[in-house]
Amino acid sequence: MNVQPHPSRRDTRAADQSSRPPSALPSRLARLLLPLSLAALISACGGGGPASSDPAPAPPASGVTALSLSTALFEEKALSASGQQACASCHASDTAHADTSGTQLPVGGASLDRQGFRSSPSMLYLDANGPFRFVGTEAFGGFTWDGRANTRAEQAGGPLLDQTEMANPSIADVASRVRALPYYADFRSVFALPENASDQLVFDTLRTALEQYQKLDTDYLLFNSRYDRFLDGQATLTAQEQRGLSIFENPAKGNCASCHPSRPGATGERPLFTTFGYAALGLPRNPAIAANADPAFFDMGLCGPKRTDLSHRSELCGQFKIPTLRNIELTAPYFHNGSVATLEQAVSFYATRDIDPARWYPVGASGIERFNDLPAGLRSNVLNTAPFGLRPGDPPVLTAQDVADLAAFLRSLTDDQTAAQNTPTVSVAP
Ligand code: HEC
Ligand code: HEC
Repeated sequence: MNVQPHPSRRDTRAADQSSRPPSALPSRLARLLLPLSLAALISACGGGGPASSDPAPAPPASGVTALSLSTALFEEKALSASGQQACASCHASDTAHADTSGTQLPVGGASLDRQGFRSSPSMLYLDANGPFRFVGTEAFGGFTWDGRANTRAEQAGGPLLDQTEMANPSIADVASRVRALPYYADFRSVFALPENASDQLVFDTLRTALEQYQKLDTDYLLFNSRYDRFLDGQATLTAQEQRGLSIFENPAKGNCASCHPSRPGATGERPLFTTFGYAALGLPRNPAIAANADPAFFDMGLCGPKRTDLSHRSELCGQFKIPTLRNIELTAPYFHNGSVATLEQAVSFYATRDIDPARWYPVGASGIERFNDLPAGLRSNVLNTAPFGLRPGDPPVLTAQDVADLAAFLRSLTDDQTAAQNTPTVSVAP
């Protein structure tokens, strides 16, 4: 008999979603905030709390830990100008901390009416991402699609102040929102914040807390997908998944593993399905992005416009960070601009970009506008090595069956979210 030791976390959320906006995470939030608001009540009513001249924070209420507190902050809508958007609104735990929206790119702003032009990536498996760097001429690491933040603490400041996201006008504004939280006393004590902390220090401590959350919550490194169990000899892949895996790893077929490594590292580290490198794949422009109504607007990744320090390096235009493919089943829409709605289509893009470009790009006055999400002069930056590099009408390197097999394999990379929280069922290799 198949006994399920823990109630499915995904099932609970599915029930919640029927009656609430997709960004709400009511059950988890309530669970976390209950002890916190009690703690706040106790410290407010108890007449305790340090006098304003006393810089020493009171001890946290029992049960409040760096993890519970930082998780609450990640799910805290009161940190946004709209009062309705938390980090978790765009990075929901049941979509591997990627978009919650399915096909549309996230919308933010003080009135929740401003759309960004990038898809929110999964936040999982980033511990080895590292700061942005060049190795020779190749870029690696950094956070966001263009790597412009060197740490997750630095990254967290971005959405708090971005006018298409949580949209706070200033650091002072964020600090006053933090001070107004019912669990601010616990925040101070857990993160050793003096009572007279400056706006900048409150802001920096919030960013540190949000980074801590991503390091402490073991959901971020579960390593318990069926593929992990397969690597451990504890599970099998179906015949179709096996075929998909060999196509994925075959340099003359998918060549996927050259950028999305699938085998344990030299010292046994589990594969992350990304090198944290960068590549220009020439994705189609997404007409559903509001900013794209301006034909002169281009999101060129490493060379801008979000990132500004490499704008003179035109050879880098069009490159975006290679994302992990772990949990890829859950993270639609796909690619930096969300131009592809389903996993099968994302894999098909690799198979048919060059042999059937009309499937991906519009037809203009001078023929099919390949790589139309880059200015015409920069389209030669787009990658042409395997599995790309064919010509229209060539026999495919990846058949329709290969695409289906690859997608089946990729679905074996979904973590087991029904496992108890903070108890990875597969241990991380040393
Ligand atoms: C309105 C939706 C939205 C909100 C709210 C939001 N994010 Fe994001 N997140 C995104 C998008 C879009 C990106 C990609 C940004 C880019 O490439 O410029 C991103 C990227 C990231 C990344 C980088 C992942 C990687 O692979 O490098 C991290 C980490 C992250 N967000 C954490 C957070 C935290 C922490 C918060 C709360 C302070 C937050 N996000 C709030 C949409 C959002
Ligand atoms: C040269 C490196 C490279 C190779 C080879 C490669 N990829 Fe990718 N992959 C990337 C980059 C870079 C992105 C993100 C591109 C973007 O959004 O602009 C990406 C994105 C993806 C995504 C979407 C991820 C997301 O979170 O939206 C999928 C799915 C994917 N790749 C699957 C594959 C498969 C399957 C293959 C083999 C057929 C493959 N990749 C081969 C570099 C590569």
